[in-house]
Amino acid sequence: MRGKSEGKLAKQICKVVLDHFEKQYSKELEDSWNTVRDVLISPSLWQYAVLLNRFNYPFELEMDLYLKGYHQLFQGSLPYCPKSLKCYLSRTTDRLPSERHQFGNLKKYYLLNAASLLPVLALELRDGEKALDLCAAPGGKSLALLQCAWPGYLHCNEYDRLRLRWLRQTLESFIPQPLINVIKVSESDGREIGDAQPETFDKVLVDAPCSNDRSWLFSSDPQKATCRIHQRRNLPVLQMELLRSAIKALRPGGVLVYSTCTLSKAENQDVINETLNSYSNVMPVDIREIARTCSQDFTFAPTGQECGLLVIPDKGKAWGPMYVAKLKKSWSTGKRHEFCKQF
Ligand SMILES: C[S@@+](CC[C@H](N)C(=O)[O-])C[C@H]1O[C@@H](n2cnc3c(N)ncnc32)[C@H](O)[C@@H]1O
Repeated sequence: MRGKSEGKLAKQICKVVLDHFEKQYSKELEDSWNTVRDVLISPSLWQYAVLLNRFNYPFELEMDLYLKGYHQLFQGSLPYCPKSLKCYLSRTTDRLPSERHQFGNLKKYYLLNAASLLPVLALELRDGEKALDLCAAPGGKSLALLQCAWPGYLHCNEYDRLRLRWLRQTLESFIPQPLINVIKVSESDGREIGDAQPETFDKVLVDAPCSNDRSWLFSSDPQKATCRIHQRRNLPVLQMELLRSAIKALRPGGVLVYSTCTLSKAENQDVINETLNSYSNVMPVDIREIARTCSQDFTFAPTGQECGLLVIPDKGKAWGPMYVAKLKKSWSTGKRHEFCKQF
């Protein structure tokens, strides 16, 4: 193991971005922002969780993690948590090295921000279901979905060609051939998939392109950072368009999870509220139980929504930012209160 801070010392905080966040998030998160900021600006405090690969199960590594004081995540009474999903956390910032690909061998573990598993668990994928991961690269959440269930069909889409290659590599390094055979990888604009495959999927994950607060803070070029801050205003439009497409691709009765790795209310709660206001056949699904059962390992900020959770980085729980919202497409286009009665 190597100290996680080793490779991170060279990171420089971009003052333009920090000032911008300071202004926005001190209003949106109020007092919590001070702690969130302290964690975000200190990569040495960031933690990485270890997701074990059920297709090349590392028994020895699991023992080793126990001995080193790691503990297993999601041991509580989550509404949905398949036993096949195993993820370990350390209380310290020690970090396993990334695993090298060895030809002919599947990798044994994947390092990730533990909060990335919350959208995956919220989706509740079951064996045999048809699922769409609309914005899939580099593939962390696709991989986690496949730890949970064996879908009948999984469509992983990514618009960016370079990142698409990364996605393919992730799938090939962790997933065995029989399961690869039920996965389709495509390079489309996610905004067009709804029209191309209407009412096709039981489950859709929209892990949307967003401000990505952690990486923005360390932008190396202040001019580019300023430009991105201006472009940031347009992200909710793209996010809404992706959601529109996802809703179209979902079969009636199907479930959609929207997630981002930003704290920004405009890209999180506002996008979901706008969607709910625009579609009479899309209903919020209450996921507050996830927050209740995971509060030991994650810190949540209030969102004012029963269908939306926001994980904020905290000391000793440096996961997030991660916003997760869950929606359901109803069978009828009737008014929301009519649907809620049958819910
Ligand atoms: C937050 S990342 C996805 C991370 C991924 N789900 C994971 O867990 O590894 C968002 C992705 O959306 C992609 N993207 C941006 N615009 C898109 C579009 N119009 N359609 C599909 N994907 C898009 C970005 O290239 C980026 O890879």
